[in-house]
Amino acid sequence: MPIANCSVVDLPRVQDPRGNLTFIEGSTHIPFDIQRVYYLYDVPGGAERGGHAHKALHQLIIAISGSFDVHLDDGGEKKVFQLNRSYQGLYICPMIWRELKNFSSGAVCMVVASEKYDEEDYYRDYSDFLVGCKKGV
Ligand code: TYD
Repeated sequence: MPIANCSVVDLPRVQDPRGNLTFIEGSTHIPFDIQRVYYLYDVPGGAERGGHAHKALHQLIIAISGSFDVHLDDGGEKKVFQLNRSYQGLYICPMIWRELKNFSSGAVCMVVASEKYDEEDYYRDYSDFLVGCKKGV
């Protein structure tokens, strides 16, 4: 799918002197139902995550705390997003290679996903991913 389908989504924000609140409802604020949530934390300085693509999975990536960069690649075009707001998420459609880099100290990356974990849904090899892009798989 084209990288143009990936974009930063502004999530609802309930601002309050006691502290702000953001929520996500599947298929209301994001274009998929939520089957899974996972998060990355305690990421050591200089570490990189991701380095794969999904065949069918839709995801929303949020910098719950701190910041990091998300490098996207649809097999043709590339784009980099810096995430650093708890109320914004980067929607990533299927068939996008992603790499997460430049984590700030204490960053927490939460990922909301459309399916449960399935290793069969992954491209973990970049050249296999490119072949999949050409086939339109
Ligand atoms: P990996 O996909 O390499 O993480 P990242 O994309 O963030 O770099 O996953 C690391 C390990 O965690 C791998 O053995 C698979 C496992 N895992 C699960 O069991 N369930 C999950 O939902 C996820 C995302 C990973």
